[in-house]
Amino acid sequence: MARITAGVGSSHVPLLGVAVDQGKEDDAYFAPIFAGYQWTRAWERAEKPDVVILVYNDHASAFDANIIPTFAIGCGEIYKPADEGWGPRPVPVVEGHPDLGWHIAQSLILDDFDMTIINEMDVDHGLTVPLSMMFGAPARWPARIIPLAVNVVTYPVPSGNRCWLLGEAIARAVASFPEDLNVQIWGTGGMSHQLQGPRAGLINAAWDNKFMDSLIGGSDAARHIAHIEYLRETGSEGIEMVMWLIMRGALGRETKLLHRHYHVPCSNTAIGHLVLAPVA
Ligand code: DHB
Ligand code: FE
Repeated sequence: MARITAGVGSSHVPLLGVAVDQGKEDDAYFAPIFAGYQWTRAWERAEKPDVVILVYNDHASAFDANIIPTFAIGCGEIYKPADEGWGPRPVPVVEGHPDLGWHIAQSLILDDFDMTIINEMDVDHGLTVPLSMMFGAPARWPARIIPLAVNVVTYPVPSGNRCWLLGEAIARAVASFPEDLNVQIWGTGGMSHQLQGPRAGLINAAWDNKFMDSLIGGSDAARHIAHIEYLRETGSEGIEMVMWLIMRGALGRETKLLHRHYHVPCSNTAIGHLVLAPVA
């Protein structure tokens, strides 16, 4: 049977894609950021996941104000890197896993989650930057990717509790897929950041770290954090962190920490990541 073996939470700061693409990982500004990911890259090389369910948000690249799916799942064969204004990133195409993608879509919909099904779309920094952070710059991405896109751009966005419940339903879907697959789930986005307005540049390191603490162990307190708290404490874009709760929900009752890293500054934000394993 397929099984979820680990979860990763990570920021997806677009500047880090530029750093990888232009070979600047060792520059003084970027070195402490990438240093935190060395453990994770080595761990991924050893773990060799077959499939990653990559929870992320699109930033008006594939969707815009015309179509706003709350939860969408990619069931396609491939996804090309999106052109976000400077041309597509020079990274490999993202290969999907249509059989598992369709299986999860069916299982979720019959489990009362009304997913949007995507067969064709381009993927932006929300998806490709975490791939670069976790896998470096290979000629071909070492895992099949199932994109799971969440609307965190236009209100109303889903609640933390709904995200957690979706994670639990994803775990049920994966566990009922008959093929023996090593599946990881990544929740990306965050951490505290605000990209516009009078509070642009806001970073709340204490809150970010409290949030990371709450995902380790048996607490489910994070699912009840209200939208207004993300807005007030973490800036207008901090709401991206609800996507980490899909990852956490999918790991079950209790998690154990494998690796943790947090660094300020990174572009307009803090960069953070967390590697978790489910405790059986
Ligand atoms: C930035 C953009 C993002 O989409 C994000 O999630 C974090 C940071 C940025 O431009 O700094
Ligand atoms: Fe973002």
